[in-house]
Amino acid sequence: MALSAKLEKGHRYNTAASQAILFGGCERQMARLTVTQVLEMARKGERIAMITAYDYPSAQLVDATGVPIILVGDSLGNVMLGYEGTIPVTMDEMIHHTAAVVRGSTNALVVGDMPFMSYQALDSEAIRNAGRFLKEAGCQAVKLEGGRAVAPLIRKLVGYGIPVMGHIGFTPQSVNQLGGARVQGRSSEAARELIEDALALERAGAFSIVLELVPAQVARAVTERLEIPTIGIGAGPDCDGQVQVFHDLLGLYPTLQFRHAKRYAELGEAIQAAVRSYIQDVQDGAFPTDAHSFSMSAEEETRFHELLGDAPSQAQVG
Ligand code: KIV
Repeated sequence: MALSAKLEKGHRYNTAASQAILFGGCERQMARLTVTQVLEMARKGERIAMITAYDYPSAQLVDATGVPIILVGDSLGNVMLGYEGTIPVTMDEMIHHTAAVVRGSTNALVVGDMPFMSYQALDSEAIRNAGRFLKEAGCQAVKLEGGRAVAPLIRKLVGYGIPVMGHIGFTPQSVNQLGGARVQGRSSEAARELIEDALALERAGAFSIVLELVPAQVARAVTERLEIPTIGIGAGPDCDGQVQVFHDLLGLYPTLQFRHAKRYAELGEAIQAAVRSYIQDVQDGAFPTDAHSFSMSAEEETRFHELLGDAPSQAQVG
C-alpha cells in the first residue's frame, strides 16, 4: 500500500498511544522504540531509517543520533570478522555482538539477524535460537531470510512473542543457490513471486520486510500491497524505509563502493590519516607532551632520588 493510503486506511495493528508500562505496580516510560511504534511510523508516512551496528561504540554513536532501528546484521561476517560472506557466522558470534549493541543503545529498536542454519533445520531449534536473541542478547526482534518457505516458522515465532522482520529479494545466506549477489525479481514472473512471498510474510505476522537488491518498480509494487513497512537496500526510493551497512555508509572500507550504498563520510581515510599523524608524532618526540603526562611532587621526587642514591638533578638544585 502506498504510504498515503496506509495513512488513510489506518492500521490493523494495535499501536500503543503511550509506551507507559507497569513494572512492579509502578508505571514507567519505556525509552526504546517498539515494533508497534515502527508500524505507527509507517502508517503516518514517516520514512524509517535503519542502520547496522555490531559493537558497543558503534551502537552508542548511532543510537545517540535517534535512528529508530539498529540491525545487528549477519553482515557481521563480512565487515567485522573478515569472512567471505555471511554463511560461516554462528549463533554465538551473533549473540556476543548483539548483546554489545544492546548495552550500547537505549533508544533504538535492536533487531538481531538469525545466522545461516540457526533456523532452517528444525522449527524447535529456530524457536530456541530466536529466543536466545531476546533472552541472552536482550534485543527486541529477530530478522530471518526467506519467503513463503519460512512463513510457517514466522507465524510460530510471532505466536511465542518474538517479533520478526522478514528479508526477501537477494538473501545473502542463499548466495550459492542464487549464483552471486544479484538483483532479484527482474522478470515479471520472479517479481510476482516476490509479491507472493511478501504477502505470505505479512500474513504470518512479520512486522516489516527488508527488500534487498530488487528493481525499484518491484519494490514499489510490494510496498503498495503491504500494510507492514518495507525497508529497502538497493530497492529504490519507494520503500517505507531504508537500511544501510555502517561500514558502507561511513567509508570504513575505502576501496569498496557498492551501487546500493551511499557514503556519507570517509572515515577509513580519516582513521588512517589520524594513525599516520600519531606514528609521526611518536617518531618526532612530539607525543606525549607534559599535557599528556603525570608528575610526582618535588618533595617526593627529592626523596625518591635520595632512596635511589642519585645525585640531585639540575632542576632540583636550581
Ligand atoms: O546482514 C545485514 O546487514 C542485512 C542488511 C543488509 C539488510 O541483512
